[in-house]
Amino acid sequence: MKNKLNEMIIQAEKSIMSCKTYNDVLDVKAKYLGKKSDFNDLMQELKNLPNEEKPLFGKLINEAKQEISKLIDEKREELEKSKINDLLKAQAIDISLPGRDFTLGHKHVLTKTVEEIEDIFVGLGYEIKEGPEIESDLYNFEMLNLPKDHPAREMQDSFYITEEILMRTHTSPVQVRSLLANAERKPMKIICPGVVYRKDDDDQTHSHQFMQVEALVVDELTTLADLKGTLLLIAKKLFGENREIRLRPSYFPFTEPSVEVDVSCFKCNGKGCSMCKSTGWIEILGAGMVNNNVLQAAGYDPMKYQGFALGMGIERIAMLKYGIEDIRLLYTNDLRFNSQF
Ligand code: PHE
Repeated sequence: MKNKLNEMIIQAEKSIMSCKTYNDVLDVKAKYLGKKSDFNDLMQELKNLPNEEKPLFGKLINEAKQEISKLIDEKREELEKSKINDLLKAQAIDISLPGRDFTLGHKHVLTKTVEEIEDIFVGLGYEIKEGPEIESDLYNFEMLNLPKDHPAREMQDSFYITEEILMRTHTSPVQVRSLLANAERKPMKIICPGVVYRKDDDDQTHSHQFMQVEALVVDELTTLADLKGTLLLIAKKLFGENREIRLRPSYFPFTEPSVEVDVSCFKCNGKGCSMCKSTGWIEILGAGMVNNNVLQAAGYDPMKYQGFALGMGIERIAMLKYGIEDIRLLYTNDLRFNSQF
């Protein structure tokens, strides 16, 4: 029996030494110390020994078990350590490598243009207002002096949702909304930037969805001279201190008189170039004195109150300022384009 025990210890030691993985160790442990282990067989044999020999062999078996269990624990620890070392080696960081560069995003050129325009007006004491993009025919047309059969409705081909509701074709309905909201008839200076919609075929200079900024000033004193001064200031701020403006007579149902506003060409300084089509002037917006009918429809006494309104296309301003030749570039989100600004 003693021989058997020694033999087992030697065998166990060998198996433990040859373990390569944690699982191997578990197998060896099960074989020698588990319920069905060779030791258990020996314990059975112990029962058949004469009584005086039992304590001695019991002790020997226990010592052998402890010895093997110690070897297993040592092997397990050794394997764990080498596993951690391997991992550390595999995940080692080379701190001498240069850092990786990542690019920060920035505002879209259209957003930048809107904010620039907003800043100019806010600097002049205007308040920023918003209105809904889904608008009633009443506010978009009717109360702006464009009754149902008015031929000028054709200037703004519209997306109707029902007979009375449409996608707003301009930001001018915010004029109506602001006038109606001002029950106390306080002097008013507002702008409204926003998206508008027209049934246009998309091409290099047209888009069925684009942006405008509307401005409206109404009080008892504002005149065409104020409009002119405001326009000159905006032109200078947007396109440079040396700019001049030119007003041409025009027609909008909601303003009277109405003007089309040109700015002297900032590329050739008015001499004539491809940008201004050799005229020296570039059209930038429409404006005029608020039509009496609009004031009246909103409950204002046109004999007492007057003011001006203007509306400009933001894409057009951005395209002029940044030399963008196709309006569609502003919407297609090509990073090669967007990252230029
Ligand atoms: N609403 C006009 C348009 O979209 C622009 C405009 C606004 C003209 C205010 C005059 C006054 O064409």
